[in-house]
Amino acid sequence: MTELNRGRPLSELDAFIEKQFVKKDDALARTVQNARTEGFPEINVSPTEGKLLYLLAKMSGAKNMLEIGTLGGYSSIWLGRALPADGKLVTLEIDNDAAEFARANISNAGLADNIDVHVGNALDILPDMEKRGEGPFDLIFIDAEKEDYPEYLDLSLKLSRPGTLILSDNVIRNGSVTEEYPVKEGHRKLAEFNRRIADDPRLESLIVPLINREIIDGIGITIVK
Ligand code: SAH
Ligand code: DHB
Ligand code: MG
Repeated sequence: MTELNRGRPLSELDAFIEKQFVKKDDALARTVQNARTEGFPEINVSPTEGKLLYLLAKMSGAKNMLEIGTLGGYSSIWLGRALPADGKLVTLEIDNDAAEFARANISNAGLADNIDVHVGNALDILPDMEKRGEGPFDLIFIDAEKEDYPEYLDLSLKLSRPGTLILSDNVIRNGSVTEEYPVKEGHRKLAEFNRRIADDPRLESLIVPLINREIIDGIGITIVK
């Protein structure tokens, strides 16, 4: 197990930080509870990562945001809370049941006018958005199928401008992305994604480790030059 000093699990440190820095929010709490009762997987970002998303979004002054992978809208609500009153977030979700569930949670958070849940495959929707001349977005959060992260990056760059902030979840996976020959295809593609955001001359990036439940995962932070 990953341990803190005196043998305490690292998750206790995250719980401590959460208690001190993450204010209670009924809509977010209900989103997590509803996911549990309705049988959706609990793979939303953690409360502390949500707070980090919120802070980065606010710092960047983002007014139009794109999210790839909505699930129940937990991270959408965090991002939505950072929007100005006239700001917009478009979030993409392939699963219709999840999208409907997310709409209910988003509405409960009072963000229905700011957040649009779009149902479909991001790999189809993103090229369509580009063709329609949508974007560029101020902030893009990538959090859908791990095997498609490199492709999401290519498509996101077409919807970006200099200064666009591209955030990406799950880029560490307890260190699996550092293995020379990762067993899982998803980990291989996440490692490829990390090399891309590290080395692409159009981008400046860092991956930042975060405690997530019992593991260390992390967030990619990228700015388009
Ligand atoms: N961002 C959410 C969690 C998303 S989980 C949060 O932190 O609260 C990943 C989601 O991406 C799942 O709901 C899955 O159905 C969706 N997804 C996977 N592949 C996709 C694709 N190609 N296009 C759109 N959504 C996709
Ligand atoms: C999974 C997906 C995620 O986006 C996440 O944050 C954690 C787990 C998953 O597919 O297992
Ligand atoms: Mg994730």
